[in-house]
Amino acid sequence: MENPDVMKGVVLAGGTGSRLHPLTQITNKHLLPIYDRPMISYGIEALVKAGVTDIMLITGGTHAGEFLRLLGNGEEFGIRRLFYAYQARPGGIADALALAERFASGGRTVVLLADNIFERSLRPCVEAFSKQQAGARVVLSRETDHEHLCHLGVAQLNGSRRIERIVEKPQDPPSEYAVTGAYFYDETVWEVLPSLKPSGRGELEITDVNNWYVERGLMEFDVLDGFWGDAGESINAYYAVNDFVRINGANAEE
Ligand code: G1P
Repeated sequence: MENPDVMKGVVLAGGTGSRLHPLTQITNKHLLPIYDRPMISYGIEALVKAGVTDIMLITGGTHAGEFLRLLGNGEEFGIRRLFYAYQARPGGIADALALAERFASGGRTVVLLADNIFERSLRPCVEAFSKQQAGARVVLSRETDHEHLCHLGVAQLNGSRRIERIVEKPQDPPSEYAVTGAYFYDETVWEVLPSLKPSGRGELEITDVNNWYVERGLMEFDVLDGFWGDAGESINAYYAVNDFVRINGANAEE
């Protein structure tokens, strides 16, 4: 029997990685190195160190088999149970997440974009979500570079207490708080996903899922301490994350 109190982890490692072409013409973005390990291993480590050890990895495209070769049954990485799902067509983050429904429904889920690298452990966020009564939770990172914010999801805050809405790739960012690729959802998320409509870029957007919770007053957030980087955002971001991790490491516990 599944225990609904066990938080499940979903690691998203699909997409075309077009912003890292031509590197991603010959492999999946999440298999590229970050310092001394394939990118995917940092996301797995982030979850395992936070105590999430029932994990589903979702990927797509032509290099899916390499994840199996690297991660196997997950044991070496501290995973208790590892499942895989295959996204047949790139349809966005929320489209990929829908593949995890049978794995994760009935309890709570943490979703991690596998190109997101965190300096510090996500454990405090996992613990905060465990204590949250219901709803969803996002993890914000302060980013002062206006141009950078235009490539991300950005939270509009009401004072420092509530998120009023999240704007995806804003021309005029409503704050300096970027929404990172670590998302926490209660079991309602599986009802929200089928109601989504494709965005201008033809994808089912995770920001639309998050705004569903925001509109109902069910969204909480954490603000990160320490470095956060999206290594898939551009070739410069990829190298910035590499440089950071080489010097400082990642997923550090206090
Ligand atoms: C996605 C999300 C965006 C978020 C970012 C974090 O963007 O849509 O809201 O800020 O991940 O890495 P994408 O990488 O799909 O452009």
